[in-house]
Amino acid sequence: MHRYPSASALIGATKPELPVMAVRPHAAGRAARWFIENFPGDVAYAYKANSSVFLLGALYGAGIRHFDVASLPEIEDAATIPGAHLHFMHPVKSRTAIRRAFGEFGVRSFALDSEDELRKIQEETGGSRDLTLWVRVAVAAKNSKIPLERKFGITGAKAARLLVKARQASKELGITFHVGSQTVTPDAYIAALEEVGKLIVKAGVVLDRLDVGGGFPSLYSEAPPPAPLSAFMRAIATGVEKLPVGNHCRLMCEPGRALVAEAESLIVRVDARRGNELFINDGSYGALFDAAHLSFNFPVKLVGRPVEAHEAFTDFVLWGPTCDTVDHMKGPFRLPDQIREGDYIEFGNTGAYSRAIASRFNGYGAYEEAILLDEPMFTMYGPEPVEQGEAEQVQA
Ligand SMILES: Cc1ncc(COP(=O)(O)O)c(C=O)c1O
Repeated sequence: MHRYPSASALIGATKPELPVMAVRPHAAGRAARWFIENFPGDVAYAYKANSSVFLLGALYGAGIRHFDVASLPEIEDAATIPGAHLHFMHPVKSRTAIRRAFGEFGVRSFALDSEDELRKIQEETGGSRDLTLWVRVAVAAKNSKIPLERKFGITGAKAARLLVKARQASKELGITFHVGSQTVTPDAYIAALEEVGKLIVKAGVVLDRLDVGGGFPSLYSEAPPPAPLSAFMRAIATGVEKLPVGNHCRLMCEPGRALVAEAESLIVRVDARRGNELFINDGSYGALFDAAHLSFNFPVKLVGRPVEAHEAFTDFVLWGPTCDTVDHMKGPFRLPDQIREGDYIEFGNTGAYSRAIASRFNGYGAYEEAILLDEPMFTMYGPEPVEQGEAEQVQA
């Protein structure tokens, strides 16, 4: 794969016909190192967020060995990673998926949120006692862009009963929760851990594992910006300290977005301009699903030619390439006034879920790929200079 010092260098060199998924593996490595140094437990990467081999390589190189997987195809892929510990954290799994995960891929770690799922796991693993079972509890989403609590999770007396039954069926009993993706303040984790504490008391079980899930934020063009990640770590440490669990209880977190969002940009071309509407060559059926359906305000910049001196900036709305009117990103996206057909735009921090969601609707959805050596447009982790010598050698 070709490497370029920046998106502008890439445009200068290739004038790409297709949209480009441009990865910055160094940014994924930096994020992983930060989590490993600052989270007091296992850091499991949520594989669903982005399975680019370049990003997986960077995460692995930084020391990530635990992976949260959601399906058999993800397990088939992730099982090729040497020494990977796979946690099958989808609370509703098919019997075939459980059986093959256990029998063929050696998975011993499963999430569940119902007695039916517990029965399924017991039956399809032949009553194995060599299991880590994580009971997924529903917790309130606070300040989260994508709340997840309505779909999965168990609470109250039912949760306490399930914990007791899972305790009897497992070697290690865990609790897991997810406060919702892109949670911008740490109070959701504090509230969730308080609920977990009450539940442990109600069930009267000894807990071996606690997974605080994902949900950690990345940085987009949204105000106010999220709290710093260190505030999330402090909140989790304080919440965990108050829990009725022994020292042996091992912590885990499952970040997806926070590890890879800033490690990928999407570079698109403007194919038409009508007033303050731009028609671009990727959209809601491609890697801009979140911009269209969840109003994510990815940072944008014109790349490939300099912005003219004193050029004003204007708010634009964007149309994707398909014939569907849903293919619309309302933004607003602030770009130079003189932007025109043939120009290229870099969308920053598109590394979480964008690539994973892109479809081939209308025949679109094919991408070029490249590695960029410069810094992400926005970072939660502070600058880490790219080796200049290396960058200079890469001639666009
Ligand atoms: C079970 C589970 N863990 C972790 C994640 C990763 O979440 P995030 O990308 O918000 O960190 C998800 C995302 O949907 C999830 O469902």
